Amino acid sequence: MVSTSREQFGSKLGFILAAAGSAVGIGNLVGFPVNAAKNGGAAFLILYAIFVFAICVPVMMAELAAGRASQRGPFGCYRHFADAKPWWHIGGLLAVITPFMIAVFYLVLTVWIFGYLAAIVSGNLSAMSDASFFGDFINGKILFLYVVFVAAFVGVTLHFGVQKGIERGAKIMMPTLFFMLIALVVFILFQEGAGAGVKYYLIPDFSKLTTEVVNGAMSQAFFSLSLGMGIMITYGSYMDKRESIPGSARLVALADTTVAFTAGLLVLPAIFAFNPNTNPDDLSSSSVSLIFTFLPKIFLAMQAAIGYFGASLVAALFFLLVLFAALTSLISIIEVPVCAAMDQFCITRNKALLVVGIAIIITSLACVVSFGMVPFFTEFTQYGGGVKSFFDLVIDVFYDTILPLNGALICIFVVYQWKKHNLDSELEQGDPEYKSSIMERYINFALGTFIPAILVLVFINTV
Ligand code: PHE
Repeated sequence: MVSTSREQFGSKLGFILAAAGSAVGIGNLVGFPVNAAKNGGAAFLILYAIFVFAICVPVMMAELAAGRASQRGPFGCYRHFADAKPWWHIGGLLAVITPFMIAVFYLVLTVWIFGYLAAIVSGNLSAMSDASFFGDFINGKILFLYVVFVAAFVGVTLHFGVQKGIERGAKIMMPTLFFMLIALVVFILFQEGAGAGVKYYLIPDFSKLTTEVVNGAMSQAFFSLSLGMGIMITYGSYMDKRESIPGSARLVALADTTVAFTAGLLVLPAIFAFNPNTNPDDLSSSSVSLIFTFLPKIFLAMQAAIGYFGASLVAALFFLLVLFAALTSLISIIEVPVCAAMDQFCITRNKALLVVGIAIIITSLACVVSFGMVPFFTEFTQYGGGVKSFFDLVIDVFYDTILPLNGALICIFVVYQWKKHNLDSELEQGDPEYKSSIMERYINFALGTFIPAILVLVFINTV
């Protein structure tokens, strides 16, 4: 039973900003630039862009179309089109568990970013270059308070629903994020020595494109566009039938890639201008260690040029930028289980939000205390030759591994279960020019053949 009163985005721009808000996250601002710089510069960029437009955009279109046609989030969408074939429920289940678990660790990351911002604003930038700062910080009791702040912000936004919450939040945060990013880039590019960073970022080196790098670029692109997480299915179910899905998907991908690219013009020149002796090959490719241990040192080094206050201001702006990017992503991912609960149990948004919110917060707390506070979660399990915390486990399974599998499943589901002609007619809605276009022919071929094959390969490679 499809309710006619399903919430909708109020405008095309609102949808684009919300979807781009989901896509632009921590991965774009820090992970992408450093990966690109280390793994072949412009060569990596070209590869990444090919993956985004040839593989990820079709998957995004499939997710949006399946969501809009079923008028349900991922769980309901799989059920709706599965014709009672029970094995597809696994896809639906994965499509709800995955965002739930990603929300859990993403909430923790967002809380840390919020904590760093608070520390910088209260004048503590200098303390951050101590080797022990991060370790002490992630074990601080104040984090529990920050969890409350971040969860309250996301909760209130989601309480207001699709138009007045998600869309309005994105309409405020995304343009602000963009202006902050540009302002920071301009400031950094005018610093002496910045050019070396730009060179390092962009000089192509095709010899670096090993199998591992190719695999990494594909995973990065997939994660960056918020695919395989049920987000685009959910957002698709809130899309107006008159809007063009192919056009919107391309715009969202373009915005996401542009932000990732632009962030490279900020992060690498900053590193080279303020720490010219850095050997970029030694930089960790983990966004976490970059954001929380390496970059604060770079910001502190700015005090020689612009004073402590100036350096703190730049650092605060940067962390605010990352915070906005993280919040819009967090909102989108928590909306998935909220929407699933509303669809499945026919309950109100507030009830769904309450239940899902409490479950996410409790599971997040298990992550928060898994850095030493509670031994049970700190030494949760063992694999890959080491003791792993609960937080490690969640990241390794849900962030690193499962997304491409979910992606392959949705492609196969859409093409072979829901069927191509239904996909076509959904995509033609709101975009008559799509009919019989090259894109339509390409997608009809690719979605049922090499795209899921590549995603399965990436999955196997990561496992
Ligand atoms: N593209 C997002 C990012 O880079 C992916 C994401 C979306 C992650 C939603 C978590 C939640 O961070």
